[in-house]
Amino acid sequence: MTSLPGRQGIIYRVSMLILNKAAGVFSKPSRREIYEFLRSFNFRPGKVFLHKLVLGIETSCDDTAAAVVDETGNVLGEAIHSQTEVHLKTGGIVPPVAQQLHRENIQRIVQEALSTSKVSPSELSAIATTVKPGLALSLGVGLSFSLQLVDQLKKPFIPIHHMEAHALTIRLLNKVEFPFLVLLISGGHCLLALVRGVSDFLLLGKSLDIAPGDMLDKVARRLSLIKHPECSTMSGGKAIEHLAKQGNKLHFDFKPPMQRAKNCDFSFTGLQHVIDKIITQKEKEEGIQKGQILSSAAHIAAAVQHTTACHIAKRTHRAILFCKQRDLLSQSNAVLVVSGGVASNLYIRKALEIVTNATQCTLLCPPPRLCTDNGIMIAWNGIERLRAGLGILHNTEGIRYEPKCPLGVDISKEVGEAAIKVPRLKMKI
Ligand code: KG4
Ligand code: ZN
Repeated sequence: MTSLPGRQGIIYRVSMLILNKAAGVFSKPSRREIYEFLRSFNFRPGKVFLHKLVLGIETSCDDTAAAVVDETGNVLGEAIHSQTEVHLKTGGIVPPVAQQLHRENIQRIVQEALSTSKVSPSELSAIATTVKPGLALSLGVGLSFSLQLVDQLKKPFIPIHHMEAHALTIRLLNKVEFPFLVLLISGGHCLLALVRGVSDFLLLGKSLDIAPGDMLDKVARRLSLIKHPECSTMSGGKAIEHLAKQGNKLHFDFKPPMQRAKNCDFSFTGLQHVIDKIITQKEKEEGIQKGQILSSAAHIAAAVQHTTACHIAKRTHRAILFCKQRDLLSQSNAVLVVSGGVASNLYIRKALEIVTNATQCTLLCPPPRLCTDNGIMIAWNGIERLRAGLGILHNTEGIRYEPKCPLGVDISKEVGEAAIKVPRLKMKI
């Protein structure tokens, strides 16, 4: 790469110089490098970008990701370093480990996204970075790296809300107008919200305890699926989906949580404990030790996936009915967007499809690589904010990351008070 000819080579070396500084790796630049660095700011041969260009940086959890996206939604460059494998071995994310891995990879990932985009840092319109919510130690790495970059390049900074970015990703691919309903289901989040604008969200419901991805990860760990030859490299949720195809969901009858609560909140801890008990009981019956794989693991996977899907579908169904009742969504043209890591689960998608078919809604899901954490959604949120003129900072003094941060205005109490009864749907999946 270092031997790239002409402008690309210059861009690469200049970017390296800047990024080395941002990462705190100070090596004394040569006179030639300084000359090239300065020249890059005036360098305008042939290629003229008519569009806004945003570099997005994501480090809120366990993925170090970056991307360059233009105003029309073209992804010009993208790079990601996933820590999943490391965290799978420790049985969960250890924040200091995640922080160290972000530190080790951020410069390379940003560099890779920039160099594949063939965009010089000087051509960027702004830098957008996730600052909330997420793991404090992880958010800190992305923010301090970005702030140094912003300072050196003299570019505007756009702080991004991770969940807002998930919610708006769909608009990069489809022409989805506001308002639309969004269901975000991942390892760290579980919420239903009405998206009324780029930074205008109404929170309809959320998980009262853990997120569905977290529950699936815990069940997968309890089932020792990492030792299963077909699942060893998969995330917990993906492993459950894979194994569920070989099982019978009716073998166990787990009750969907919160059946009496007529709101749009979720709960997964109770279900997780019930499954935990069943696994302990089955281990006794089969005479096997904790850590060995049960012969009924696939049946358990199928049943937990089915119960999770039914629970999510029911709450979403109620959210659609509430929004229609209050005229917050179109009666016949409403859109439901489902995103987050768990949204890549095809069984859960099918359950949601049954709901949207019954309510004359359109179900939209970004492709799997855009459902999980990525830099593209952050860059795109930067583009959306640039276009709307919202939250663009020219002075980053006092900017902090926020590990906990709600999404929009919480109207979940009002939703519960409406106590909408949801008609029963046959979940034939
Ligand atoms: O969005 P994401 O990458 O990270 C955050 O949590 O923000 O989501 C990761 C979560 C993990 O809990 C993982 O087990 C789950 O998404 N997941 C799945 C599937 N693929 C990933 N859950 C169910 N089915 C899948 N196919
Ligand atoms: Zn996420």
